[in-house]
Amino acid sequence: MSDLEIKNESSRLLDKQRRYLELDRRWLREEEKRRGRRLTSCVVTFGCQMNARDSEKLRGILEEIGFVNTDDEHADLVIYNTCTVRENANTRVYGRLGHLHNYKDHNPDMLIGICGCMMQEPEIVQTIREKFRFVDFVFGTYNVFALAEILYSRLESGSQIIDIWDHTKAIVEDLPADRKYRFKSGVNITYGCDNFCTYCIVPYVRGREKSRTPEDIVQECCRLASDGVREVMLLGQNVNSYGRGLDEPVTFPQLLTQIEKIPGIDRIRFMTPHPKDFSDELIDVMSRSKKICNHVHLPLQSGSSRILRNMNRHYTKESYLDLVSRIRERMPDVSITTDIIVGFPGETEEDFLDTLDVVRKARFDSAFTFLYSKRHGTPAADMEQVPDAVAKERFDRLLKVVDETAAKENSRYVGRTEPVLVEQVNEHDPSLVTGRMTNNLLVHFPGDASLVGEIVPVKLVSSKGFYYLGEKV
Ligand code: 5AD
Ligand code: SF4
Repeated sequence: MSDLEIKNESSRLLDKQRRYLELDRRWLREEEKRRGRRLTSCVVTFGCQMNARDSEKLRGILEEIGFVNTDDEHADLVIYNTCTVRENANTRVYGRLGHLHNYKDHNPDMLIGICGCMMQEPEIVQTIREKFRFVDFVFGTYNVFALAEILYSRLESGSQIIDIWDHTKAIVEDLPADRKYRFKSGVNITYGCDNFCTYCIVPYVRGREKSRTPEDIVQECCRLASDGVREVMLLGQNVNSYGRGLDEPVTFPQLLTQIEKIPGIDRIRFMTPHPKDFSDELIDVMSRSKKICNHVHLPLQSGSSRILRNMNRHYTKESYLDLVSRIRERMPDVSITTDIIVGFPGETEEDFLDTLDVVRKARFDSAFTFLYSKRHGTPAADMEQVPDAVAKERFDRLLKVVDETAAKENSRYVGRTEPVLVEQVNEHDPSLVTGRMTNNLLVHFPGDASLVGEIVPVKLVSSKGFYYLGEKV
C-alpha cells in the first residue's frame, strides 16, 4: 500500500468509528436514564509509554461516548490494557481479573474489557475464552481505535466479543484522546518493531515497524501546541529508525528538526532509541537544539559483546561505550539512562562482569533492571537458560552498582539553577510542587497549583538520590 492508500483506508475506518460513537452515545443516554445515574469507566495501564498513550486514546473514546472517567476499578466499565514483555506482567493481570470478577458479582451490569499486547498471543485469548467468561470484550494492539465499535458489538450481541487483528497498515489517529497532563503529551511516530532482539516478544505482538508521515506528526504536534501542550514525547519501539519505510524516506533527526520549529512546543523528548541506529546526525541535531531535552534513554541490555550478539543487538561493549562518550562529548550535561537484562540464556559470570563494567564506565543516571523472562516463541526461549538463583544473585549485585553510580551522578547539579516544568502539586506535601528538569530528574520545591504547566527557574538546593529539593528563584 502507498502512503496515500494507507491514508484513505485510515479515514474510512475513522468515519466508521464516528458512526459507532453515536450509537454508543444513544445507548449510554438510555442506560443512564434507566439506572438514574451517570455511568463511570476506568482504564488501567500495564507496561510501557506506548500502552500509556493507547490508554489515553481509550479514555478519550469513552469520554466521547459520555462515560465519566475514574481511577476506581469499581466502575461500570473497566478496561485492562495489558503488557506481555515479561511473564510476571501476565500473572499480575490474571490476579487482578479475579478481583474484577468479584466486583461484577456486586454489579452484574458491569462491563469488563481487556486489550493490549497480551491479547496478541493466541494461547492467552484461548485462556480468556475458556476460563474468564465474565470478560465482555477482548481486542488487541491494532484496533485500539475501534473501541466504540467493539463495545457496540458487545451490547448488541450480549455475548463475549473477541476482536483481534493480525496486523493493519492503517494508522487511525484522529479520534479524541484524554491526556493525563494538559501540558505534555506522547505522540506516536512509529508502531511495531523490526529488530527481533532474541529475548523480545514485541515484534510478534506489535508487528512490523510502520512510520507515520512527518506531515501527520507535525500536524498533531501543532494541534497539541494550540491546545496548551508544551512538551511532546515522541514514541516508538525504535524511534531512531523512524522514516525508513515511507514513500519519501525521512530520518529521525530530520523529523526532530521539523518539530523543533513548532511555536509553543518548548520541550521534545523521545523514547526509545536503539544504540545501533544512534547516528552522528542525531547527536548533532540534539546538541544544537534548544528544545530537545538533555536526556537519552539508551537501552544497553548487556555489557558483554558475546551476549549482545546472541541477543541480536548489532553493537558491542566497545561500540556502546564509544557512543556514550560521543554523546557526552557534545552534550556534557546529558543524563543517560538505560535498560539492562540479567540472566539472558548462556550468561556467564564473566559476561555479567562486563555488564557491571559498562554500568561503571557509562555512568548511568538510572537504570531499569530486569531479570530475563522467557517468552514463548522467541529464539532465546530455546537457548540454555541460566538457573533462577544465579540470575537473582547477579540481579542484586547489579542493583547495588547501579544505585552507587546513579547517586554519584545525580548529585552533580546541586547549586545550579535549572528550568523546571511543573507537573503537579506534591502528593505527600501540598506546600510543595513537583516538576521535571530537561534531564528528566524530578525536583520538589515550595509552590502552589498555579505553577502547574509552567516552566520556572529552580535552584537545586540538595540531592536526595533520585530527586532534588529546590527553591524557585
Ligand atoms: N525479559 C526481560 N526483560 C525484557 N525486556 C524485553 N524483553 C524482556 C524479556 N524477555 C526489557 C528490555 C527492554 C525493556 C522495555 O524490557 O530491557 O528494553
Ligand atoms: Fe524488543 Fe528489541 Fe524491538 Fe526493543 S528493539 S521492542 S527490545 S525487539
